Amino acid sequence: MKFLITAGPTREPIDPVRYISNRSSGKMGYAIAQAALDAGHEVILISGPVSLPAPARAKIVRVTTADEMYDAVHAELADIDVAVLCAAVADFKPADYSQRKIKKHEGIPHIVLVPTRDILASLGALSEKNFLLAGFAAETNDLETNAFKKLQNKHCDVVIGNDVSAPGLGFESDENELTIFLPDHSSRVLPRESKDHLAKALVQILCDLKQKR
Ligand code: PMT
Repeated sequence: MKFLITAGPTREPIDPVRYISNRSSGKMGYAIAQAALDAGHEVILISGPVSLPAPARAKIVRVTTADEMYDAVHAELADIDVAVLCAAVADFKPADYSQRKIKKHEGIPHIVLVPTRDILASLGALSEKNFLLAGFAAETNDLETNAFKKLQNKHCDVVIGNDVSAPGLGFESDENELTIFLPDHSSRVLPRESKDHLAKALVQILCDLKQKR
């Protein structure tokens, strides 16, 4: 099968030296890419800025901003069987970019934020899609309610939820705990484990779901 995986954060520039971003290290998305490769699948990995080595044999597309990630995802959709959107895309970007470094002596800048385009929702809204669409939900509270909302609102086939407030899990850590949420309102917990082991189990689950689709 052919997997398209997004991973890592995006950076939304304020001026040539500053940006808005988040704490994603890329570890979860890169682990999914590696697990898919190990299982014999083809992988296109669309990655925000991270300091991880690219998995050998993956086609890697490096991007910085949410807009670049959106365009890269849409450019790589041909013949995809499974799309896994694990990237922590910035939800907001500065409305204006200053071409020169904003100086401290000018006072605290008033930064107006505007929403970025939602990549996952844009794939869910495609009128024809032959691929399984898997979104992630990074939540600090009400994981189940919020994950089911994302599943429905973004028209996903599956949402993979994780609690990003629990110590040692979620962002930057080597371990995670995932819950798989499905449109029939069922859910399944993959208990705390290394991201590498979870990714292996997840790839198998996604392949099974794709085959049943
Ligand atoms: O990278 P690590 O340090 O290993 O951390 C892993 C992780 C916590 C980042 C990962 O497991 C995870 O939860 N990724 C999703 C993070 C996120 O942005 O979640 P969200 O609930 O805000 O977004 C919901 C979904 O919409 C996600 O699939 C996201 O990729 C997608 N999205 C969000 C905004 C946007 N503009 N476009 C999107 O496609």
